[in-house]
Amino acid sequence: MTELTIAIAKGRLQAETLALLTSAGLGFSSETLSSRQLAVEDESGRYRLIFVKPADVPVYVEYGVADCGIVGRDVLLESSTDLLQPLSLNIGACRIVVAAKNEASLSQLGMLRVATKYPRIAARHFGARGVAVDLIELSGSVELAPSLGLADCIVDLVETGKTLKENGLRIVEVITDSAARLVVNRASYQLKAEVLGQFIKSLDDTLRRRASDD
Ligand code: PRP
Repeated sequence: MTELTIAIAKGRLQAETLALLTSAGLGFSSETLSSRQLAVEDESGRYRLIFVKPADVPVYVEYGVADCGIVGRDVLLESSTDLLQPLSLNIGACRIVVAAKNEASLSQLGMLRVATKYPRIAARHFGARGVAVDLIELSGSVELAPSLGLADCIVDLVETGKTLKENGLRIVEVITDSAARLVVNRASYQLKAEVLGQFIKSLDDTLRRRASDD
């Protein structure tokens, strides 16, 4: 019987997450990993993984449909859910930055137009500096906005920097660093203390092993 349901963020974190879980002792056949199934069990039958959009991981975990999940800190900063975060996982390292066109200066008068898929992070960042902003919420390809005249700058995630570079943008300011976190439902943490404790320990041991191999 499945003991623990783990929500996995599809997309950029997915491969690193599965590699981490495999190192921590969960087993998946290659057919399972290459299938399009959105819910799979590991070979022991103890763990069920569900694959969901990153922004939905905290939602599934908060409602207890998943006991825990693995998702980027960027997503958690943007979410209003109340979850336990017992481990930072040292995968999916990236930064959330303000970026603008290479030649642009942001010291203009008037309202700054900011395009982003991170409206809360952007509002908090500029709000703390007393800068008035017009937030333009997009759901992707945010780097297009400055060159098309939609925004003066963007707030977005940068991993390798390639997307910024290839779209003529530069980092103006780093807002924060991000990496994947393990998030846990508060009730599951109490009710499934033993299995969650084992799972968290196996992840922690794997991270320590990896760090000592570096
Ligand atoms: C993210 C992010 C940047 C890009 C950064 O987008 O929003 O666009 O990756 O990565 P890089 O620094 O390695 O180039 P994602 O790939 O998630 O797609 P999206 O634009 O559809 O959100």
